[in-house]
Amino acid sequence: MPRQARAPGAQSLRFAGEAGRAAPERRGRDDRETVTEAEYHLYIPEKNPLERPIMLDFDERWRRCLEQLDADGRRRRLRTAARLAGGRIDLAGRSLVDFSSNDYLGLSHHPELIRRTALFAERWGAGSGASRLVCGNLPPFTDVEAKLAQGKGAPAALVFVSGFQANASILPALFDSRVLGAEPLVYCDRLNHASLIHGCQAAGVRQIRFRHNDLGHLEQLLAAPNPGGRPRFIVTETVFSMDGDRADIAGLAALAERHGAFLYLDEAHATGVLGEGGFGLARGLAGPRCLVMGTFSKALGGFGAYAACGALLRDYLVNRCGGLIYATALPPAVLGAMDAALDLVPTLDAERARLAAHGDRLRAAMAEAGLDTGASSTQIVPVFLGDEARALAVASALEAEGLLGVAIRPPTVPAGTSRIRFALSARHSEEDVDRLIETLVRVVRKP
Ligand SMILES: Cc1ncc(COP(=O)(O)O)c(C=O)c1O
Repeated sequence: MPRQARAPGAQSLRFAGEAGRAAPERRGRDDRETVTEAEYHLYIPEKNPLERPIMLDFDERWRRCLEQLDADGRRRRLRTAARLAGGRIDLAGRSLVDFSSNDYLGLSHHPELIRRTALFAERWGAGSGASRLVCGNLPPFTDVEAKLAQGKGAPAALVFVSGFQANASILPALFDSRVLGAEPLVYCDRLNHASLIHGCQAAGVRQIRFRHNDLGHLEQLLAAPNPGGRPRFIVTETVFSMDGDRADIAGLAALAERHGAFLYLDEAHATGVLGEGGFGLARGLAGPRCLVMGTFSKALGGFGAYAACGALLRDYLVNRCGGLIYATALPPAVLGAMDAALDLVPTLDAERARLAAHGDRLRAAMAEAGLDTGASSTQIVPVFLGDEARALAVASALEAEGLLGVAIRPPTVPAGTSRIRFALSARHSEEDVDRLIETLVRVVRKP
């Protein structure tokens, strides 16, 4: 005889199978609200004229939201783009110079990455078939992680499905108050990437935000009394994705050391581009009190992400990080691209020098034209235009002239700081950069 499910509110009914996946301490509560799938179909609500089901018009809700985005000039649309070699892109049949992708070294079209992608797929299949803990931990994972740990000068490394997924799931594992013994104090740079914010939110911690790259402010916050001796974490990026400026890594490491904090660094935009052998600004820092994550999806030309850390923390993450436990392992082809990129990156000093020179050239020209590039000192060069409408108008004028520079505006960046974010590539020629400078200055000056 099926148990009579607790009355209406169909939203509160959960299948037993779902409840089985809930966190252990919530199981008691979930069980009371659980019906089996069979019971659910048998379930007939008691007649209650006051509790008629609400037939919400969901599409109407989505439509209203989209209309509001339209009205605010913030509606985004997907455009089909065929990325070409040589820093070019095909948009709706037109070839543009691509100043918007994060393929900083042009590795996405490198013949060796493509060859090894095909080779790994042929050898290991198109998919991994399961999560790494089940039977998806193919031999190439071990090779890639060993190469990565060596390159980063880290005791250990762990590959993740993507950078977003890594940040969104590593942070909740690190901030688990049951493991730490107390709720942690988490200090975050104000301009941290959405994935880092997402990870903090998923962990349910309050973010104590310090002014962007302001270590004086961070120190002030760290100096506040911490009577319960709560564990502290500092979470920041080494190169900021929308500003192209760098964090003071040595200063952060010293602060973390002084205040007994754990340092979490996101090297998404530094990996491949900066530091010795292209292994980032935090090379050699990962260890028992520091985790350095980064991606294979930008300068490394492929997809996926990594965490470089101490060996014990790696083991902890394998056991406690939902993004690793509950996700199918990356496909072998993706591991092939990772493997090739890790072999190539240390050999690309000339490309890195060229990329740095492109950045310097663009910044110098912008300064001469009176345009603001903020604190950029890398291959990411924002040109601040303030107003959203102005940023959009400049981006579309550039596009009309065959140059792709996408406008970045709220909510991605704070209101009033809309900009065109130019992402340079070693595949660009000096002529490409000069063409960008000449066109941009002309377009911006147009009334
Ligand atoms: C700073 C930062 N972290 C993480 C990510 C997410 O990485 P992925 O694109 O590999 O998911 C990004 C991507 O834009 C990023 O800019």
